[in-house]
Amino acid sequence: MAAKRALITGVSGQDGAYLARLLLEKGYEVTGAIRRSSQPETVRLETLGIAQELKYVFCDLGETNNLSRIIQETEFDEIYNLAAQSFVGSSWELPIYTSDVNGLGVARLLDAIRTYSPQTKFYQASTSEMFGKVRETPQTELTPFHPRSPYGVAKVYGHFITVNYRESFGIHATSGILFNHESPLRGRAFVTRKISYALAQYARGSGMPVELGNLDAMRDWGFAGDFVEGMWRMLQHETADDYVLATGRSTTIRDFVNYTASALNIGIDWTGEGLDEQAIDRRTGNVVVRINKDYYRPAEVDYLIGDASKAQDVLGWHPKVQVEELAEMMAKSDFDALS
Ligand code: NAP
Ligand code: GDD
Repeated sequence: MAAKRALITGVSGQDGAYLARLLLEKGYEVTGAIRRSSQPETVRLETLGIAQELKYVFCDLGETNNLSRIIQETEFDEIYNLAAQSFVGSSWELPIYTSDVNGLGVARLLDAIRTYSPQTKFYQASTSEMFGKVRETPQTELTPFHPRSPYGVAKVYGHFITVNYRESFGIHATSGILFNHESPLRGRAFVTRKISYALAQYARGSGMPVELGNLDAMRDWGFAGDFVEGMWRMLQHETADDYVLATGRSTTIRDFVNYTASALNIGIDWTGEGLDEQAIDRRTGNVVVRINKDYYRPAEVDYLIGDASKAQDVLGWHPKVQVEELAEMMAKSDFDALS
C-alpha cells in the first residue's frame, strides 16, 4: 500500500517537529510547510534528527494562491494546520496580523481543500485560550468561549470556520482544543521554557534572576509529544469532530518554578507579595525570581483545566507525562545543553 501523505503547516514549530517525527515513524510521506526566511528554520527538526526525511514547500497562511497551489499539486491524505502567530503576549501588539494568520489563514486553507481536494482530512490547532474567562470548570468541548486576547479571538474564528466547513461541505475537518503543552523544544518566550532556561543558567552559575509576570495564573500543562499523538488519532477516526486534549491538572506559574528549581537542586523560599514577591536562594540569599509588571497582560486567562474524557473514550488517548516530570525534563535538557 502506498504511504499516506501528510502536509504539516508550522512544521518548524514545537508541535510541528514532534508531529513530523510521529508521522515518519508511522510510515507517512511528510511534507513540511515552512515560511521563507533568510535562514531556513529547521532547528527543531534537526534536533530530532529528521530534517532530511521531510519534503518541504514554502507557505505563508497570509497568501491564498500559494496555499491553493500546494493543495492542488499534491493529493494529501491529511493536512495538519499548526501554523500560527502562537504567542498570546504578542497578539496585543500584532492584532491585525494575528487575526489574519490565525483566523483567515484557516479559511484560506479550508477553501483550497474544498475546491481542490475535498477528501483530504484536516486538523485545526485550536486552543484552550478560547475558553479565556472560563464559564465552567473543568472545560469541555461544550464549554462556551470567552477569549481574552486577540490571539484567542482569532482562534475562535479558526475553530468555527473549521466546524462550518465540516457542516457545510462534509469535509473531514476536526478542531483539536488543546490545553498548554510544553517540551524542551518550546519557544523561549513561553513561561515554562523561560523558567527552565533561566533556572538552568542560574544553576550553571549565572547568578542572574529571571523576571516574570503573574505567578498566580494556572495552566493545565502536558507534554507536546503526548499531544501530537492525540492530533493524529483525531484524523484516524471515521468521523470528524471537536476534541479537548488536557491532563486534568492545573498548576500555578509559581509551582512550575518550584518544580523546576527542585529538579535543578536550587532550594528557594518565596518572600513578599504582589510586585514585591521574590524567590530567594536558600543557600546564597541571591534573588532567583523577581516580578516585572511589563510581563503582566492587558487581560489575563486566570485558570484553565481541561476535561479530556471524550478524547479518552472515543480516541483512546491518554496523556502520559505529568507536570512535575515535564518540568524536570525541560530543566535537565536546558542544563545539559549549557554544559
Ligand atoms: P510554535 O512553536 O510557535 O510554532 C508555530 C509555527 O507556525 C512555526 O512553525 C511558525 O513558523 C509558523 N508560522 C507562524 N506564522 C506563520 C505564517 N504566517 N505562515 C506560515 N507559518 C507560520 O507553536 P506550537 O506551540 O508548536 O503550536 C502549534 C499550533 O498549536 C499553533 O497554531 C498554536 O496556536 C496551537 N496551540 C498550541 C498550544 C501549546 O500549548 N503549544 C496549545 C493550543 C494550541 P516560524 O518558525 O517561521 O516562526
Ligand atoms: N510568556 C510569559 N512570560 N508568561 C508569563 C510570564 C512571563 O514572564 N509571567 C507570567 N506568565 C503567565 C502568563 O500571564 C500566562 O498566564 C501564563 O504565564 C502562560 O503564558 P505562556 O507560557 O505565554 O502561554 P499561554 O498560556 O499564554 O499560551 C500558550 O498556551 C495556549 C493554550 O492555552 C501558547 O502555546 C498558545 O499558543 C496556546 O494556544
